[in-house]
Amino acid sequence: MSLLQAIRGTKDILPNEIKNWQVLENVCRNISQRYGYNEIRTPIFEKTEVFLRGVGEGTDIVNKEMYTFEDKGGESLTLRPEQTAALVRAVIQNNLLANVNILRLFYIGSYYRYERPQKGRLREFHQYGVECLLSPYPESDVEVIMLADTFIKTIGIENYKLKINSLGNEASRKMYLDVLKKYLENNLDNMSEDSRRRVVTNPLRVLDSKHPDDIELLNNAPNILDYLDDESQLHFEKVKTYLDCADIKYEVIPSLVRGLDYYSHTVFEFQSNYLGSQDSFGGGGRYNKLFEELGGKPTPAVGFAMGMERLLLILDAIDKNQVKKIEPLVYVVPMSNEQYEYALKIASLLRNQVKINTVIDIQRRSFKAVLKDTDKLDADYALIIGEDEVKNNGVMLKNLKERKQQFIKIDELCNIF
Ligand code: HAM
Repeated sequence: MSLLQAIRGTKDILPNEIKNWQVLENVCRNISQRYGYNEIRTPIFEKTEVFLRGVGEGTDIVNKEMYTFEDKGGESLTLRPEQTAALVRAVIQNNLLANVNILRLFYIGSYYRYERPQKGRLREFHQYGVECLLSPYPESDVEVIMLADTFIKTIGIENYKLKINSLGNEASRKMYLDVLKKYLENNLDNMSEDSRRRVVTNPLRVLDSKHPDDIELLNNAPNILDYLDDESQLHFEKVKTYLDCADIKYEVIPSLVRGLDYYSHTVFEFQSNYLGSQDSFGGGGRYNKLFEELGGKPTPAVGFAMGMERLLLILDAIDKNQVKKIEPLVYVVPMSNEQYEYALKIASLLRNQVKINTVIDIQRRSFKAVLKDTDKLDADYALIIGEDEVKNNGVMLKNLKERKQQFIKIDELCNIF
């Protein structure tokens, strides 16, 4: 591979794309704060053990997809394939649960999985996620789903599907797993090779198979919802009732199990028709055992994560201009170098007093050449300054989108933007 080629499955985010990312990240922050969630940032790599135990040894992530390496001290480290396990490690280590009865956290970051790259699937990708810790109640499952719904609608995605399921508590799941395993073992001959392997390593994941050889087998498989005990059933019923109450539409999909081992009770996924085969742009669920798995105290928790690249793909498919710009940009254009000093003062006034994003030519170019730049920079206004403007203590304000212009006195600039 050429030296000048980014690693397969990774992407530079270029200046002409960055605005969409910034807008998206701003919405992540705003909506999280609207629901009372605070940001947490953890290191990009962790001890491998955190993910082995957290995500689970039978999962594809751990078996095939982790970027694991030994550092120079001989310690096995892994680039984080997801945030939840690392967040739990940080919460335990920093004792964040002391003296609080609920902890609401959110994160935005980069994650690493050695997957086969394709549209919407990268080896370095970005997630926005939230985790609500310490509440065992279905109220918190619904709070994070409501937050996701507000977020998705705020960024401009109206049509999406929410799929939900319940994996039940430990006792229910164990009972179901026994039945499922027996069923699968009796049907080994009618199964894809991948699924046959999973019967041993992670039988629940067989339910997730999209392989044509498995379809019939899965249609007749025992339904997990038939094995929920009273507690699990009640929890799931409440989740559905509250979702109805919040007017959030969902579909119950009993084969939805998700690819990580830590889930119990509610699991969910957000899907969009705009995405092709990688149609899930977010997912999450309850994980009541993960804290103990990583050496902490029993702590009920629920959360989700969304793939930022997939969100941007959807927005792009809906409407290329869907993601709006944050703030207008003004380009100060002196007609000639004679007006540069005056223009410099105007730029300084705009940046420091009016507090608006401002660009000024610093390459002594012709007025015409500079005006051409306004397009490339996606500027909203040009402030044109010639001899007359200097004489009259003003600027010619040109609205580049509406193609109108008018003379403005300097004192009035504050009222315009
Ligand atoms: P996940 O389903 O593995 O869940 O990932 C969440 C989202 O990250 C996916 O729906 C997808 O949009 C995005 N994603 C995953 N892998 C890739 C990839 N290779 N390329 C691009 N995007 C990708 C989790 O990570 C859990 N930690 C979610 C969670 C939080 N559960 C409870 N709390």
